[in-house]
Amino acid sequence: MKINSICCIGAGYVGGPTMAVIAQKCPHIKVTVVDLNESRIADWNDANLENLPVYEPGLDAVVAEARGRNLFFSTDVDKAIDEAQMIFISVNTPTKNYGAGKGMAADLKYIELCARQIARVSKQDKIVVEKSTLPVRTAEAIKNILDHTGNGVQFQILSNPEFLAEGTAVQDLHNPDRVLIGGEDKDAIKSLVDIYANWVPAEKILTTNVWSSELSKLTANAFLAQRVSSINAISELCEKTGADVSEVSKAIGMDVRIGSKFLKASVGFGGSCFQKDILNLVYIAKSYGLHEVADYWEQVVIMNDHQKNRFSRNIVQTLYNTISGKKITLLGWAFKKDTNDTRESAAINIAQNLIAEQAKIAVYDPKVSEKQIKEDLISLDENQLKLIQVNQDPYEACHNSHAIAVLTEWDEFNTYDWQKIYNNMLKPAFIFDGRNLLDKKQMTKIGFTYIAVGSSNL
Ligand code: UDX
Ligand code: ADP
Repeated sequence: MKINSICCIGAGYVGGPTMAVIAQKCPHIKVTVVDLNESRIADWNDANLENLPVYEPGLDAVVAEARGRNLFFSTDVDKAIDEAQMIFISVNTPTKNYGAGKGMAADLKYIELCARQIARVSKQDKIVVEKSTLPVRTAEAIKNILDHTGNGVQFQILSNPEFLAEGTAVQDLHNPDRVLIGGEDKDAIKSLVDIYANWVPAEKILTTNVWSSELSKLTANAFLAQRVSSINAISELCEKTGADVSEVSKAIGMDVRIGSKFLKASVGFGGSCFQKDILNLVYIAKSYGLHEVADYWEQVVIMNDHQKNRFSRNIVQTLYNTISGKKITLLGWAFKKDTNDTRESAAINIAQNLIAEQAKIAVYDPKVSEKQIKEDLISLDENQLKLIQVNQDPYEACHNSHAIAVLTEWDEFNTYDWQKIYNNMLKPAFIFDGRNLLDKKQMTKIGFTYIAVGSSNL
């Protein structure tokens, strides 16, 4: 089937950028991205590109090029499904917070609703592509629903997991390390290969069976997260022994068998994928009775929780075992730089821990809105919420603080006038650098007590 009409259900962090790039690179294909969330679609259609709902460097230019030409954002899901030959499912698959598998298994209710809607609306044969991260064998479930509730039309299911990382999504989509397509039907696979072949070299387009493709996505994220937890485990040892984790990372990363990427010690990994995917893997392993496999991977998440908690515990201990009534400034709220996404951000956990100790928290993030920060802290009661202030200006956020905690590695933090910040803080003025971002020598020279993850203050 030569594809000239695509629909994507879900206009989020994956669906939005991915479809924008497909539309940019394939002007002959009409790409319609649909979502139930009206305000999200309105933001994607906003004439002012600064209001796009997803912040990604370079995304505004891609949207500007394709939107209105062959890229459309709409809330009319039925119409888009009906018109499309190929439908990407890119809806959210959060961890289940009820019933069997609570706190571990992926909640597939949004996927199932999509499948039922596709079955109800479709009048012609279609290719359905899983883009969301899913547990292994979801394709089978989707196929089952489509085949038994549809109007007798033929559906082919493909798995095409997304490997883009937020903050570098456009770059990752333009130059992917690989594109993975899993499926059974040769013609359907070829239709999707032909789309990517418009800009991705053939040797980077990998085809596998559908289960390998689904499992590869979970495995890739589990391996990446495991590297972060591994170096974070070593960071605690560094703090005790006088070793410096940045030096250790550099030394081991020069071994080509290990490689230098994903070895930055941090305040703990966040993002919508790592924890969710590992817990998914753990759940699948447990459900097959593979307890050693499950325990092995679960430890990556346990280590990450430990890293977040020990960071906030260290702040309390260093500030003479009490932070009650003290102002602590959090620089950064997003789970990494160059995104406005805050899902599972370590900042949320750390803020909650500090507020439980009755600290006053000031937050500054260059791209995250006050509304989002307050939503992330929904579990706090009214009195606790009063302890949070969100600033638009980093200097104001740091004014009269006892301590600053750097939680996201935004480049702009390195450009600040740190002398001015120091002058306006209470003394001794502490910096807890959860990203090893700032220049230790410079900070110490100014007078800060500078404490970075993975380096000792012996
Ligand atoms: C990840 C995968 O990288 C991507 O391939 C997949 O499609 C989705 O999940 P993402 O979560 O967007 O992407 O960002 P990533 O760059 O992987 O970072 C995840 C978290 O790990 C962030 O909180 C980041 O700060 C942290 N991290 C990463 C570290 O703490 N240290 C590192 O060395 C690398
Ligand atoms: P991701 O990071 O995987 O892209 P997001 O939460 O950013 O996840 O985006 C998923 C989007 O899918 C949300 O905007 C949500 O409104 C949308 N969505 C969920 N279910 C449906 C559905 N049945 N039809 C249309 N859109 C949906």
